[in-house]
This record gives sequence, C-alpha cells and structure tokens, in this order.
Amino acid sequence: MCGIVGFTGNKQAADVLLDGLSKLEYRGYDSAGMAVLDENGTTSVVKAAGKLDHLKQKTDNGRLLPGTCGIGHTRWATHGAPNEKNAHPHLSGALDDDPSEYRASDVIGVHNGIIENQEELREKLLRHGYQFYSDTDTEVAIKLVDYYLKKYRIGPIDAINRMMVRVRGSYALALMFREHPGEIYAARKDSPMIIGISEGESYLASDVPAILQYTRNVYYIENYQAARILPGKVQFFDLNGDEISLEQVTITWDAKAAEKGGWEHFMMKEIHEQPQALRDTLHHYLMDGQLDFSQAGLTDEILQGADSVCIAACGSAWHVGMTAQYVIEDLAQVPVRVELASEFRYRKLLLSPKTLVVVISQSGETADSLEALRIAKERGLKTLSVVNVQGSSIAREADHVLYTLAGPEIAVATTKAFSAQLMVMYALAVQMAYVRGRIDREQYEGYMKELSAIPDKVASCLETKAHIQRIAARFSGARDAFFIGRGSDYAISLEGSLKLKEISYVHSEAYAAGELKHGTISLVEEKTLIIGLLTQRNVMNKTLSNMAECKARGAFLLGITQGENSEAQSQTDDLISLPVSDEHFSGLLSVIPLQLLGYYSSVSRGLDVDKPRNLAKSVTVE
Ligand code: F6R
Repeated sequence: MCGIVGFTGNKQAADVLLDGLSKLEYRGYDSAGMAVLDENGTTSVVKAAGKLDHLKQKTDNGRLLPGTCGIGHTRWATHGAPNEKNAHPHLSGALDDDPSEYRASDVIGVHNGIIENQEELREKLLRHGYQFYSDTDTEVAIKLVDYYLKKYRIGPIDAINRMMVRVRGSYALALMFREHPGEIYAARKDSPMIIGISEGESYLASDVPAILQYTRNVYYIENYQAARILPGKVQFFDLNGDEISLEQVTITWDAKAAEKGGWEHFMMKEIHEQPQALRDTLHHYLMDGQLDFSQAGLTDEILQGADSVCIAACGSAWHVGMTAQYVIEDLAQVPVRVELASEFRYRKLLLSPKTLVVVISQSGETADSLEALRIAKERGLKTLSVVNVQGSSIAREADHVLYTLAGPEIAVATTKAFSAQLMVMYALAVQMAYVRGRIDREQYEGYMKELSAIPDKVASCLETKAHIQRIAARFSGARDAFFIGRGSDYAISLEGSLKLKEISYVHSEAYAAGELKHGTISLVEEKTLIIGLLTQRNVMNKTLSNMAECKARGAFLLGITQGENSEAQSQTDDLISLPVSDEHFSGLLSVIPLQLLGYYSSVSRGLDVDKPRNLAKSVTVE
C-alpha cells in the first residue's frame, strides 16, 4: 500500500524524497506528491497523478522544491479516485493552484492506511468550519490534528495524540507543522513505519529499501506511539505524551540488493537471486549439518508438543502454506490446515489448544495476516511467523520468528521470497518429522542432503529460460490458461497461475487436476494452454489422463516434470524436464519455469512487469 518518505537534515530534501519514493513505488503508484518546508515555515507542495516520473517532471527533478525538510508519498488509492486532488500530501488549509495558499496551512501530512470513521469526523470538522477539497480520509486526519492544535492550544505531539484517540482504523502518518520548521512528526497504528538516523540527518519511511543507502540504524515505531524527528535526532512519545525510549536496530541488508544492478526488471533479477536466497536461508538454520531453530526459541519440545498446525497467510504466501501442508503431513504426520488469513480472522475456527499457528509473510505487514496472528495469540495459541522483513510487525509480534534470508524484494510479484518461505517450511517439516520420531537419523540426513542440493538445482532450472520464452511468445495472444496438478503439484499450480495472471493479465486458473471435469473443462477450446505439473510419480498418470481430456477438446499441453519421462514426453505437446529431486521438495524446482512463464508473458505483451496495474507490494489494509 502507499509509501511514505520523510527527510530532515542538511541535504536538499526533495532529492532524498524522490529517491526514496522511487524505491517505494512498488507499494502503490497511482499518484505521488511531496511537500518541503523551508526554515521560514514556507511550504511548497507538488502533486502529480500517475507514476513517479510525472512528479519528477513537474518538479524539475525536485529543483522546484528547495529546502532541507520534507515529506513525500506514493499512493495506492483507498478513498477517492487516483487524481491529483486526492494525491498526498494533504493540508489543513485549502488546496489551490496558487502555492502561496499552502503557507496558510499549519499542518501538512502524508498517510498510509485507512481511517474508518472518516465520515463522522468529516461531519464534525465541517460543523467547526473546515472545508474539504479532496475525497480522502487523510485530509480528515490532518484537519483533525489542526483542530486539536488550535482548540486546546497544544503542541504537535499532544494534538497528534488526541487525533490517535479519536480516529479508528490504521495509519502511518508523517506530518510537518508550519510553526516547527526542520521537524517531522510521525504516528502509527497498524501500518508500517521506520525511522532511520545518521550523522546530522534523519529519515522516515514505510519500508527499509527507501532509506537503505543512507542509513542502517533504524527504529520501529509501535502502535499508538508518536515521534518528533529532528536532524540526526529523534524523540518518541506514548499516548500520554510522555517521552519513551525505543531500541535502535541495525538492518543487515546490503544497499545494493535493493538496486536493479543492470537487470531490465527487478523480477528477473530476483528470479535469478533464488539459488543464493535459498542457500542463505537454509544455512542460517544449519548447525553442524543439522537444523537448529533455537535462535528463534523454537525448541524440539514445541515441535513435539503441537498436535496440529494451522497455517494462515495471503496470496503467494498462502500457496507456500498449501504446498507445505502435503510435506508436513507426509513427513511429520501432523494434521495441517491452511487458511486464508482474511478468512481466518472472521471464522470461529475450531482449533485445539495445542495447535501451532504459522503465519507466513514476506513483508511482515500484511493486514489480514497480522490480524490472524493477533487472534491466534488472543486465543492463547503458540504462534510462529515466517517473515522476510526484519523487525516487521508480524516478526515482532509472533512468539517465534523464522526469518527468510531473501533480502529486499522489490518486484510486486514475489519470487525469491516465495522460494525462501518454502525452504523454511520444508526444513520445518523435516525437523518436526525427526523430533517426533517419524523419520530416523538416516532418513533425516537423506532429506537434509536433498534440501542442500536444491539451490544448485534451482540454478539449473533457470536454464529453461529460452524454452519458456519461446512458449510465452507462442501464446502471447492467449486469453486463458489452466494450471493443473495433484497433491503438492496442485499447490504449485496455484502459484503458477497467480504469477501468470498478476503480471500478464491473462486469465488463468489453477485446478486440482481431477476437479477440472466438474465444470471448468467447458472453458477449454481449441489452442487453450493447459500446463500440467507432473512431479509427483504416484499421481502423474492421473494428471496425464486429465490433460488428455483437455487435448481431446483441442488444448495445447505443456508438461513440467522431473528428469527423463517418456510417458509425459509422448502425451504432451511440449515438455520441460527439471533436475530430479526428492518429490517432497519438487515445488521449489517446478515453480521456477512458472515464474519465468509469467515474466516472459508480461514482457511479450509490453506490460510493466515490476509494477502491475492495481497491485501493491505490501497490503496493509484489509
Ligand atoms: C503475489 C504476491 C502476493 C503476496 C501477498 C502476501 O506475487 O506477492 O500475493 O504473496 O500479498 O504478502 P506478504 O507475503 O507480504 O504477506
């Protein structure tokens, strides 16, 4: 969802803001804007509909906004159309073409989140003489701060605190006050926000990549806390207005990891980073050749004590859960249920008190996943999160966290984080199986050897690139595609289908192969693309029969299998053979050609691979 950036220090703020916003564009990109406050309390605001380039052009690359303190925003519309009027920053005063009007605004701010009671607050403010120029909930929140500031003649922190008590919903807010030049004020509830500090300079952002090249020393501001940010210094306050101290955290990510580094798209770069991400993730949990989760406090006793596992996640992370359930149930023989986090939070799930609830999330900020985690904790269940972003809310709030070491993922469509999550879940399955006595030492070592071999095999899978590119070109005009498989092949089909549709806009569906003929097969016609996953030997022939049923209706069959496979070869129109691995872990290999198919299909249609329409990387609203 929306990205926010702030800077105060001794550089030109607009340069830092534009740079930070370009790193956050993946969070939302229907409009953008910046406000810079100079030392005399004069504010310049520029907004532009569309992508960040429009804002760059409109501000002559920031040169039209002089000053060393500013805030910026890239928007993913929640309230109000994606136009210039609704773009952030928003003002306590009026929005006018004449920039001198901005000087009349005492409060200027940017916001990420949703204010749920904005209608009621808008009415209240209208009664007090405020006028609104936009349809946004953000303008309401900013005018509310202004209202408290003046009504009680209080300072920014007290006014922000009163606003926090009054609004319902989620927000990360960055505000500037005309009477406080050189300072940025921040507040947060359920939307991510970090504050970074370096010598004489301070930064604020929704996510680490925006400020990684300037500093790695950051603070994670918590719910209902506010901050006063000065050059090189920050103070934190609780809801009573009392100053509190927060711990500084050092980010370990390499700044270069958030750059495109010569690749045409982040997605392709990240697809190629998978062997390393998998190696780093697995090695992080290996101690003398053995898995060790003790750094996360996840002891053998916890893994032995769980009588079931419930996985909650969204989108691709849910597909990781769907894939892992087959492996955990088969190896560890523990019942697993996998829930969409958005459903989990509103269902009264009958879970035993000994359920281990696993929440999987790249960003660690997905609103539904975070809420599922909180509900599980409220119910007294043991919680484990699998998260990529260090210090994110889901990582901090779970009882235990297993980090994936995928590094910053910028492309909206996940690839390397998905794979790293799957690696963690496979490792968890093996460890659970071992400590629960379901596999012996020899089997354990065998599985560990298989897992260790996966990164190199993934590197070999990348060699299917040219082949996949040809298939994508051949089907560049396709209207529909169907991904089918059985068992964990079905779960990977879900991910393949999402990868294709989210970035190429081709309608695609994933089906358990045996289910197709219960309705969906009526959509199959001449030249429909059917992608069949054939890595599970025990059900391969069944899936091949289902593919044949589609062939009989004119479909084109693409198979994905492991090693030489004459049956699959003779019964498909085209076959991709991947390296052989233990079938439990084949998902990490078969997903690679599917990621590539999504990528090349998007490229062949001339689409924006890294920033597909309507999507945002981190979904912090429900
Ligand atoms: C698809 C994709 C999304 C995310 C989902 C959950 O390519 O990236 O479906 O997987 O929004 O996000 P996280 O993992 O950040 O909770």
